[in-house]
Amino acid sequence: MCRSINSLDILPDRRIALNWADGQRNHYHFVWLRQQHFHPAIGRPDQPSDAALRLPDDPASLEIASSAIENGELVVRWAGDDVVTRHDLAWLRRNAYDTPSRLGRKARQQTWTGREAAAFLWLDWSRLLEDDEALFGFEVRLRDFGFARVRGAPAARDEVARLAGRLGVLRNTDFGAVATIETRPPSKEERYTNLGAGGWVRLAPHTDEGWRYAPPGISFHLGLESTPGEGGESILVDGLLAARRLAARDADAFDFLTRQPFRFCADRNPRERYVARGRMIVTDQDGEVVGIRFSDRTLGVQDLDEAMIEPAYKAIGAFARELYSADLVYRHKLQPGECHVFDNHRILHARTEFDPESGPRRIAQCSVDREEFHNSYRQLCERLGHFDDANLILPNGALG
Ligand SMILES: [Fe+2]
Repeated sequence: MCRSINSLDILPDRRIALNWADGQRNHYHFVWLRQQHFHPAIGRPDQPSDAALRLPDDPASLEIASSAIENGELVVRWAGDDVVTRHDLAWLRRNAYDTPSRLGRKARQQTWTGREAAAFLWLDWSRLLEDDEALFGFEVRLRDFGFARVRGAPAARDEVARLAGRLGVLRNTDFGAVATIETRPPSKEERYTNLGAGGWVRLAPHTDEGWRYAPPGISFHLGLESTPGEGGESILVDGLLAARRLAARDADAFDFLTRQPFRFCADRNPRERYVARGRMIVTDQDGEVVGIRFSDRTLGVQDLDEAMIEPAYKAIGAFARELYSADLVYRHKLQPGECHVFDNHRILHARTEFDPESGPRRIAQCSVDREEFHNSYRQLCERLGHFDDANLILPNGALG
């Protein structure tokens, strides 16, 4: 990365332009630079620890007395209070926020069809536990495709926590940190017996627990036992590809789903009264899809504005048609020791029907919140010297 400056210009609209030696020019607003003065971690080591105000100034109030490049830093002397701020040039280049620089730092999410996913590599379980470069390769696949598959694990319930633990602390739920999905007999107290993970009927593609404000993040499904009869296959679908197709084919439905939150509920038994509202397609400030929340089984009773009811179901139907397209389906019957790892804020999962009389299907399941994964990912990148990867802007997920 270029770290040297040919010249700098002070612009009348309260910005400094840096002209880098490689020909790139970046602009930095006075107030953006001045904020670093208030940043307790990077700006002002001499700031008293009891300083109360760490917010930036009114942009229009800022004037610069002088500025210079000294020892690899932009040094700004501020008029009015004689404050001096120093800004490392490499840091400025890494954090340039003009549109091409910012867009260039966004992680490139790559979509896939079922056929493409069926050709994905199977990564080796023990290598990921022992070798940081192998772990990095696995994390990059999760970052870009939202899905990676691993094999060679011992087919034991708690093994799944060993790989998940490399990505961060496991999310704890009322099932504990690791749960076993297995066929269980119908229970009278449950309203939707056999419709959930413990049933055996076909499950349509869905993201998990959309009824939480922040649904589970990176999900791990480790095969423990594969039902010997027909069916019981795991299905994964790239929700990002479905959303992009919807945007291209039905822009009104896409726009509707990015704006209108829906009510998701879990009230399957007396212990659950969860309700959350969330958008089915979440976009970022550039209109790029960063998260999917979708489930036919936990889409609750809606309480939208009455004028929105018919457009809402029409838009959901249009999205469902994309999500359930046959060519999106990746299908694989998880064998003992095989693990699917996927981003529950992008990838939908499902299961084909099977006959529980022919034998059980057991899967160990756990998850790591996405911010924990992204935090450990950045640390791993830095440890291995992959600084461009560490600096990528990662999608925020299906929040809001
Ligand atoms: Fe599920």
